[in-house]
Amino acid sequence: MVGETLTPNVRPPVDKETGAALAEIVEPTEGTPRPIFNPQLSASIGSLLEEWRNADTLRAAGLRPALSTMIFGPPGTGKTMLAHFIGAEIGLPVVVAKLDGLISSFLGTTARNIANLFTFADRYRCVLLLDEFDAIAKLRDDPHELGEIKRVVNTLLQCVDARSSVGFTIAITNHEALLDPAVWRRFDIRIEVPQPVIEVRQEILRQRLATVIDQPERLRFLAWLMEGASGSDLEKLTDFLRRQCAIRKDAFDFLQSLRAYVQLSAQQADGERRRLVAGSQEDLARALSEDKATTFNQEQLAALFGKTQPTISRWVKRGR
Ligand SMILES: Nc1ncnc2c1ncn2[C@@H]1O[C@H](COP(=O)(O)OP(=O)(O)OP(=O)(O)O)[C@@H](O)[C@H]1O
Ligand SMILES: [Mg+2]
Repeated sequence: MVGETLTPNVRPPVDKETGAALAEIVEPTEGTPRPIFNPQLSASIGSLLEEWRNADTLRAAGLRPALSTMIFGPPGTGKTMLAHFIGAEIGLPVVVAKLDGLISSFLGTTARNIANLFTFADRYRCVLLLDEFDAIAKLRDDPHELGEIKRVVNTLLQCVDARSSVGFTIAITNHEALLDPAVWRRFDIRIEVPQPVIEVRQEILRQRLATVIDQPERLRFLAWLMEGASGSDLEKLTDFLRRQCAIRKDAFDFLQSLRAYVQLSAQQADGERRRLVAGSQEDLARALSEDKATTFNQEQLAALFGKTQPTISRWVKRGR
């Protein structure tokens, strides 16, 4: 890759009026956590990384690696995490644009900030990360000063274009519907990060609870309970369980702690599964035994509830 090395003593550019930094520089560090995705997505990201690690080889062969990426998907699913992981994997610092610092009430200043940011990023070997990209791209819909705003958005898009032959750019949004097709077309690669399915939820839970819970039926049950949850929601649950476990040690009661968690993380639309956890163990066991999508056999239920199999069998029969 061309460009100067971005050493830790290089200062990021600032807004000339407010002095606020337009970007934050994150050095690549070993052990940057890898987001957990479904196997197909992980494999695709693997081949992308391979291409980027071999960018010089590709250049030498007269080929251009895909350099601009749009990552989109629901909140809390690991998009920002993925961008930082990519930076660490290819061993380049990530220049994280601070969009709030970039956008000034003066459109002229905003345009100049954008230009300065890209001049900076284009000068060094780095990954430019435009997180919450829709914040700028959607300015176009703002009815005020329409002509001016269009010019700012166009400045941004031209900068993205011009950079595409120079260095890596990653844009992130969770409002992909707000971006018009002209914006999409600018990106060589588009990665959709989905809400985690049950197997992926179970794997995230397994990794985050390694020191606390190792019974597979408990992990499976948690993954079942957290239907519709994002990775970030799972993080909140696992942090809670880890705290409870640290305080209670041997007196840690799994189902009791979960009941507390469900109460303390009340949602506007509480799902049936969460309601079952708050109710009686018997009803919960029965619901689990009857669940069509995720079957729990009586042996697993016995382990989960710490009861004998005949007890579980009695509970299940009683409901029939
Ligand atoms: N796929 C995942 N694998 C592992 N951990 C995850 C995953 N998704 C989210 N997390 C956890 O949730 C935290 C928040 O994730 P992140 O900030 O990357 O989400 P995001 O998609 O960027 O969300 P937003 O759209 O709100 O910006 C991460 O630091 C991580 O601990
Ligand atoms: Mg994010």
